[in-house]
Amino acid sequence: MRNHETKKAKLPFFGLGKILPYLKPFWKRFIFILVMGLLASADDVIMPLFQKHVLNKFIGERDFTSFGIFIALYLLAVLMSGVLNGLSTLRATQTEAEINNTLRGKLFAHLQTMSFSYFNQNSVGSVHARLMSDTSRIGSLASWNLLDAVMHLTYIVGATVIMLILNARLAVLVLSVIPLLVLFFALFQKIMLRADRALRAQNAKITGDFNEGITGAKTIKTLTVEEKIIGRFKSGTSSMLRKSVRSARIHGIFSAVMTFASSTALAIVIWKGGYIAQSEIGTFSAFMSYAIGISEPVRWLVEAISSLIQTQVNIERVTGLLEMKPEVSDSPEVIEKYGDTLNPKRENWEALRGDIEIRNVSFRYPDGQETVLDNFSLDIPLGTHVAIVGETGAGKSTLINLICRFYDPTEGEILMDGKNLKERSLLWLHSSIGYVLQTPHLFSGTVRENLLMGKPDATDEEIENALRTVSAWGIIEHLEDGLDTDVGENGSLLSTGEKQLIAFARAIIADPAILILDEATASVDTVTEQKIQGALEAVTKGRTTLVVAHRLSTVVNSDVILVVREGKIVERGTHKELLKMNGYYKQLYMRQFEDEETEKVLG
Ligand SMILES: Nc1ncnc2c1ncn2[C@@H]1O[C@H](COP(=O)(O)OP(=O)(O)OP(=O)(O)O)[C@@H](O)[C@H]1O
Ligand SMILES: [Mg+2]
Repeated sequence: MRNHETKKAKLPFFGLGKILPYLKPFWKRFIFILVMGLLASADDVIMPLFQKHVLNKFIGERDFTSFGIFIALYLLAVLMSGVLNGLSTLRATQTEAEINNTLRGKLFAHLQTMSFSYFNQNSVGSVHARLMSDTSRIGSLASWNLLDAVMHLTYIVGATVIMLILNARLAVLVLSVIPLLVLFFALFQKIMLRADRALRAQNAKITGDFNEGITGAKTIKTLTVEEKIIGRFKSGTSSMLRKSVRSARIHGIFSAVMTFASSTALAIVIWKGGYIAQSEIGTFSAFMSYAIGISEPVRWLVEAISSLIQTQVNIERVTGLLEMKPEVSDSPEVIEKYGDTLNPKRENWEALRGDIEIRNVSFRYPDGQETVLDNFSLDIPLGTHVAIVGETGAGKSTLINLICRFYDPTEGEILMDGKNLKERSLLWLHSSIGYVLQTPHLFSGTVRENLLMGKPDATDEEIENALRTVSAWGIIEHLEDGLDTDVGENGSLLSTGEKQLIAFARAIIADPAILILDEATASVDTVTEQKIQGALEAVTKGRTTLVVAHRLSTVVNSDVILVVREGKIVERGTHKELLKMNGYYKQLYMRQFEDEETEKVLG
């Protein structure tokens, strides 16, 4: 790691130093592109010399002695030009695709190691942009811009040398246009960039409005704000139109300036070099070719440099993410012993029994102001069935996030089987815990594929048992293709309750030592919930279970119920003990009980 740091410090050149370590595997490709670009461009540079020879020798002096060799060389040059251009284009395309592929693979793998807080703080859109467009900018910089830079630089140098040899005075005159060109192009590049950036920003805004209009369609209709939304969209698009026209205008002026610049160089040749035409028409014509030909490479070279400067941002974003350390991570000693996410050393993993001890834990979210848990202590012996209840925002999910080590406590420690969580690997912990969330996530694919995520080698029998346990077997059986029904993106083709049941079954199949249910059955009807309740007892026997629930009727059988209020346990005990206490829990329970009774009566 230290090595990287020193390399970075030595090569801050437009961020190239930062990205080079990641591009190292491609060095052979880069050399190939460099050599091909150089040769292809050298070939272009000598082309006007053939023209010179034809005009001076064959037409001017009527000397045909070298005709045979000339034809052979000319054919060779034409052939070489085709082959070299073809090969370099092919290699650049390949290199671009491979760099994109490699960087995306690395970024995606790295993203999987990032902690919850990263995903809380960064929108899906910005992560997506890093993964797709930032990498693609780097890919094209390291292939096309590299090829362009080599080819055009070679052309400029080659043409300059040949012109100097042919006629130094005239060459200096033609070349004096170049600094002016560079200045012009650099200026225009800046203006064009600004216009293009404004256009892109507007485009992103419109895309955002567009998405909202589609995903929020139902809400828009029920709030009857269609007119307002359409108005906002229209003002966005007309601003986009103005910006597009402006950008097109600037690009148009730029093309005109380009043509003007090469015409100026040509005019100089005709004005000052016209006299050569009398004696050496061929030399004159070659000069004309170089004068016209040199403005294009200058333009592309300026563009390649400008690309390099712009891509700095993309390089920073990609390498910044790649170098970012997850907030919660395994220490080097832990990795040494237990391996990491991508190379786990499962042979060293101890089986988790399921004793949990929370010692004086205080916690504040990394981006939060308030202390959510304050000096919280709790002992959950192996096999206990714990229920956590309390009002919205009390800190129930936070407690579970800490037990799962999605965050580290700000103070205090959490032990499992008597060992601090930080001394064991995250992957070990996560593979020993079954966690069913309030908002279940299903992967696109079939019901079976989703269930197998819990245990890849589960048999059909195990799958069926798990589904029966959560009373979902009947539901799945009635789906059109049964277990092979497609669930859609994030399970969108199923109801929320169905998704919860599948997520629940997925956790059970994995047979975890600790089972955590955070409002896992909140979207399931009361009848199904009661059925699950019965089956749960069998599943949770001998297994430490933590259940967060709002519906208190579902937790009455727990070994211990913790009543959490503002990050503190205010009451604890069994259902009966808590009712006897005649405190906060009783209030909560009676209120819900009355509601449920009323519901039953109204039926
Ligand atoms: N990612 C976060 N960053 C900052 N603060 C957060 C974050 N998640 C939750 N909080 C805050 O922490 C407090 C506790 O939230 P938590 O999710 O633990 O509540 P909860 O008891 O699970 O509530 P609910 O019953 O609604 O699920 C809340 O005040 C909330 O605003
Ligand atoms: Mg919660």
